Amino acid sequence: MILVKPSLEWKEQHKAYMVDWGSARMVPSSMDLSGFHTYEEYLYALEARAKGKAPWVPSSHYFLVNNDHQIVGMVDIRHKLDEFLRTIGGHIGYGILPSERNKGYATYLLKEALNKCKELHINQVLITCDEDNIGSTKVILNNGGVEDDLFITEEGQMKRRFWISVKES
Ligand SMILES: CC(C)(COP(=O)(O)OP(=O)(O)OC[C@H]1O[C@@H](n2cnc3c(N)ncnc32)[C@H](O)[C@@H]1OP(=O)(O)O)[C@@H](O)C(=O)NCCC(=O)NCCS
Repeated sequence: MILVKPSLEWKEQHKAYMVDWGSARMVPSSMDLSGFHTYEEYLYALEARAKGKAPWVPSSHYFLVNNDHQIVGMVDIRHKLDEFLRTIGGHIGYGILPSERNKGYATYLLKEALNKCKELHINQVLITCDEDNIGSTKVILNNGGVEDDLFITEEGQMKRRFWISVKES
């Protein structure tokens, strides 16, 4: 399994992934193709986002591709924290295709994303999840997450917040 950057090569698979994802909010939202007329337009917007074009902080985006060359998950890494990310979003957002869940993919995906953080010299990585998201909580704990204070959004949603230390070798 590897992380690969979105590119034209993945256009059809990315579209199929969106269909298979269903009507739930796409996670991470940066991988949501809705609202774009063409894949090229999406890639252009993603590139702008990667460079940190306002309102975004610079970010990296990857597909998790399995040994059958199929996209099974997606992740984005925000290179720094603004107020929203420090309380609600965190450095890393990820999602696994519904049909591929409970196979250890997210645990692996986060491990690989933390290696990317190391390359980016992000030594303290913040990862958040909804208080009732048991799967994501386990994924974070599997990767050494240490819990910080809970944050309650204006809508009353409780966000659990975890830090993972990434040591540069
Ligand atoms: C949360 C999510 C990423 C987990 O992905 P996954 O590939 O199924 O996770 P893993 O297979 O690595 O599972 C990790 C652990 O969580 C457990 N788990 C996974 N989904 C679970 C669920 N819905 N309820 C309870 N436990 C769950 C697994 O059994 C495993 O437990 P273990 O470590 O004790 O063996 C996936 O369900 C998803 O994409 N959800 C929607 C988007 C989302 O919530 N993203 C995270 C935002 S913070």
